Amino acid sequence: MKRVLSGMRPTGKLHLGHWVGALENWVKLQEKYESFFVIVDWHALTTDYENPSRIRENILEIAADWMAAGIDPEKSTVFLQSLVKQHAELHLLLSMITPLGWLLRVPTYKEQMRQLSDRDLHTYGFLGYPVLQTADIIIYKSELVPVGEDQKYHIELAREIVRRFNHLYGEVFPEPKEILTPVPRILGTDGRKMSKSYGNAIFMEDPPEVLKKKIFPMVTDTRRKRRSDPGKPEDCPVWTLHKAFTPEEKRKEIYQGCTTASIGCLDCKRVLVEELSEKFAGFREKKSRFMSKKERIKEILIEGSKRARQVAEQTLEEVREVMGIGIKV
Ligand code: TRP
Ligand code: SF4
Repeated sequence: MKRVLSGMRPTGKLHLGHWVGALENWVKLQEKYESFFVIVDWHALTTDYENPSRIRENILEIAADWMAAGIDPEKSTVFLQSLVKQHAELHLLLSMITPLGWLLRVPTYKEQMRQLSDRDLHTYGFLGYPVLQTADIIIYKSELVPVGEDQKYHIELAREIVRRFNHLYGEVFPEPKEILTPVPRILGTDGRKMSKSYGNAIFMEDPPEVLKKKIFPMVTDTRRKRRSDPGKPEDCPVWTLHKAFTPEEKRKEIYQGCTTASIGCLDCKRVLVEELSEKFAGFREKKSRFMSKKERIKEILIEGSKRARQVAEQTLEEVREVMGIGIKV
């Protein structure tokens, strides 16, 4: 059975963008493949090393989010990167064969540095981010990696590293391939890409009152200055959410209503609030149950990491052997 691996940095609560862009897909993939889902706390340090105080609580939060969303630790291996030290060893070994030029060329490297200009990212760890990501993936010989569009280059680099490794030492690793989720792009409440750092995110756990507070004042198509002005849903951030969450029947009505001005924006937003409250009602309930049992979450991560370590260690034994490292016993 092919293996799937994906991961997220523990940076905070998950929002609707994470659901449509990743989790929804992961939940389906775990039914078909042997799946590994890793919370990458070392990766979080690459950008947050100056202020790591929230990483620990975020780990539990994200694990609760995953499980409430339907990631089942009985079906998938859900684990914590820093509890599987083999990732660090493989990262080190891969760093020996990864040309600096490959890393300097990764588009997200300079882009992230620009975007996070308040932090000093001129570190060894930050440059090596995709090498650690490569280790995460190939240590389980994973062939499928569900990720967002922005991670495409990282997976491409992983393939290049694998080819170089296999060329130098023999065929140990399969080349991983990304599964790009064809994501309807979800916009945030201010019309920009939904992101926690922009403060425009709608979280999966937001209860109905919060949904109202966030969605009612959302920016809409600027053509609809008055209720009698028809709009174009394609130019409206609210519509990006309807496309992802409202069933087609109802969506058609809204489209019609918007373009003919037979409904107002508030009517349209009310439908969205209803859809979201209903869709994530079960999620909210499960999440709060998990959050009141933090010890249980920790146990699940420890158990998953133990399982991950067994697979990872097997791969490393092969790697040490072909690279001629250590003492042969
Ligand atoms: N770089 C990924 C992100 O920021 C997180 C990540 C780390 C990851 N290791 C991974 C994703 C391995 C997929 C596979 O989203
Ligand atoms: Fe956007 Fe809905 Fe208003 Fe149309 S009716 S502009 S889709 S909020």
